[in-house]
Amino acid sequence: MHTTVGIIGGGPSGLLLARLLHNAGIDSVVLERRDRAYVEQRQRAGILEQATVDVLRAAGAGERLDREGMPHDGIELRYGGRAHRVDFPALTGGRRVWVYAQTEVVKDLVALQLADGGPLYFEAEVHAVEGVTASDRAEDRPVIRYTHEGREKTLTCDYVVGCDGFHGVTRGMLPEGVRTTYERTYPYSWLGILADAPPVYDELIYAHSERGFALASMRSESVSRLYLQVPNGTDPADWSDGRIWDELDARFALDANPEWRLKRGTVTSKAVLPMRSHVTEPMRYGRVFLAGDAAHIVPPTGAKGLNLAVADVIVLARAFAHLKDTGSTGLLDAYSDTCLRRVWRAEHFSYFMTTTLHADPEQSPFETRLQLSQLDRIATSEHAAAELAENYTGLPLAQ
Ligand code: PHB
Repeated sequence: MHTTVGIIGGGPSGLLLARLLHNAGIDSVVLERRDRAYVEQRQRAGILEQATVDVLRAAGAGERLDREGMPHDGIELRYGGRAHRVDFPALTGGRRVWVYAQTEVVKDLVALQLADGGPLYFEAEVHAVEGVTASDRAEDRPVIRYTHEGREKTLTCDYVVGCDGFHGVTRGMLPEGVRTTYERTYPYSWLGILADAPPVYDELIYAHSERGFALASMRSESVSRLYLQVPNGTDPADWSDGRIWDELDARFALDANPEWRLKRGTVTSKAVLPMRSHVTEPMRYGRVFLAGDAAHIVPPTGAKGLNLAVADVIVLARAFAHLKDTGSTGLLDAYSDTCLRRVWRAEHFSYFMTTTLHADPEQSPFETRLQLSQLDRIATSEHAAAELAENYTGLPLAQ
């Protein structure tokens, strides 16, 4: 089998890329290692920037998002027993974000692709990509070798795009001497829960406390999504439902309203998520491109991971359309540099949000005071608040 763009990975970036290429009249094949149910249930982040919503709508995947997604005009910061709301539209000239879970985005894109897109194969495991060289000549076309329905298959491609996440195979196709990795790990993780409990707060709440960070998010009017900072290596089984709710209430406590409590309900899922920052450069080698988590990871505190993956895919889809329309590889050649500028901005913002809001176990009282001073600065300076709001709602997409 031959295709123009072989896409490894059927998460949000691979599926959206296939959709954008389909709409531009470019054929592709998506190979996803897991089965459909797994891909559609994987719990991930839930915040979409305006630009992400716009591209999903333009791609024809906005119908349910417009019905069920929840627009948000700010976030609440809690620290030192106080609360401060950051008003996004007022600080950014009208920009906002949407709460709509990544799993829902994936379901919508899978349905579209299966209805009228190119091939999307689940349980298709890629073993190797052969013929990957620094050269861009037509005779150096890469070949993907994979197993599907118990049979060995090959897919020859004009281009291969790795949308296969941090643990995927594609990044390894860039030779050691070509690839540079930048990385940081953090001395804490998140315990994330889903609960059948109405979110009693209007905005997402990001809480700094000496007990550790906490975040209150939501999935619907009756389902809360909540996170607690926990030590690395924590076993979720050590956290009973009662202990989780008590700890959340303690971290969100307000001096001015000591009665403030979350609404409790049945905890339906519980998992520990590691925190990591990672960038692989360059994001392109010959005819192989990396997009989304295959090239970069951010800790979830800035809600940037999915949005960054979508931004990569928009740049890449435009570059392939440009090649088709003009015969020029100019935009493909610029892909890595174009994306990395935005990637590093999001890396910095995610690092900033993470290190400003979490309690590092090694942190001195001096450093805690610095964090509180920074949060106070955001609460009292429009400039400082606008810096947060611009980054959170998403910087303009590269042209
Ligand atoms: C979520 O709703 O899962 C969520 C929201 C904001 C974040 C991270 C996760 O910063």
